[in-house]
Amino acid sequence: MIFPEYRPRRLRKNEVFRSLIRETQLSAGQLIYPLFIMPGKNKREAIPSMPGVFRLSVDQLKKEAEECLKLGVRAVILFGLPEKKDGVGSGAHARDGIIQRAIKELKNKAPEMMVSTDVCLCEYTDHGHCGCIIGNEVDNDATLEILAKVALSHAQAGADMVAPSDMMDGRVAEIRAALDENNFEMIPIMSYAVKYASAFYGPFREAADCSPQFGDRRSYQMDPANSREALREANLDVEEGADILMVKPALAYLDIISKLKEEFDLPIAAYQVSGEYAMIKAAAEKGWIDEKRVMAESLLAIKRAGADIILTYFAKDMAKLLKEQW
Ligand code: PBG
Repeated sequence: MIFPEYRPRRLRKNEVFRSLIRETQLSAGQLIYPLFIMPGKNKREAIPSMPGVFRLSVDQLKKEAEECLKLGVRAVILFGLPEKKDGVGSGAHARDGIIQRAIKELKNKAPEMMVSTDVCLCEYTDHGHCGCIIGNEVDNDATLEILAKVALSHAQAGADMVAPSDMMDGRVAEIRAALDENNFEMIPIMSYAVKYASAFYGPFREAADCSPQFGDRRSYQMDPANSREALREANLDVEEGADILMVKPALAYLDIISKLKEEFDLPIAAYQVSGEYAMIKAAAEKGWIDEKRVMAESLLAIKRAGADIILTYFAKDMAKLLKEQW
């Protein structure tokens, strides 16, 4: 059927028609809200490059979690700023480390909140790399053992899910084994399976104070030019026991999200990262775009490309908008 018999505009006539044939829906239940936890008491520190996002001290988490839950955002992912850093990131698996305390606080004060944790060393190492350094290199195999300790310490503190973001080879298997040996076989791993060496992480590195002090992350994070390699990375993580595959960043990598969705039957997550958030905020601040509409459109695009779960700094704002629409 072609024009004039077929007229696509018939079904766009009004919002009821549009809503009947809408293929993709966003819902607050599929959003994960990232939280930055800092030492101290009563702290709520603004992050200049991420307007609306704050570094919170542990005592602020109850209030934050309650606000999220009220909006229908029931999952968070935690990033920590430790008191001290060292060469091997030992703060990342300290029993009373910043994240371990945050998990306990959340599980005590807001037990309905699903708490996942970022498993990586870069916020905890004095050199800012995601693994430990031997010679001039980020040493893969020496880092695995530390990452497994980090993941285990999170599970012991009560985390519901761990999310390794370091991009060391073999870390999913190592973490799975450590969890299983310690009776945490029911704790899922959401793997940052396909994580690119991206300039979109800029604001996050300010927020979490984790810029590499020398070199960059290109010897472990993926080259933005590659898409077939994404399938190899994802395949490895499936083999190693990942439960959810994540693509990061999101909007510049919709082709990768879509590819993974086609090729794999695990749930797909996508991380709308700090730079994606900052760009929308900055342009909106200047009055150049409509913040709410661009937020909703970009999250919808990520979903349409194939993401089941979206990690986003807009989680609360999007949930609010969804509530308003009904
Ligand atoms: C830790 C980590 C990073 C992000 C999530 N986990 C930074 C990095 O890899 O440099 C970035 C998240 C964001 O930009 O919002 N490795």
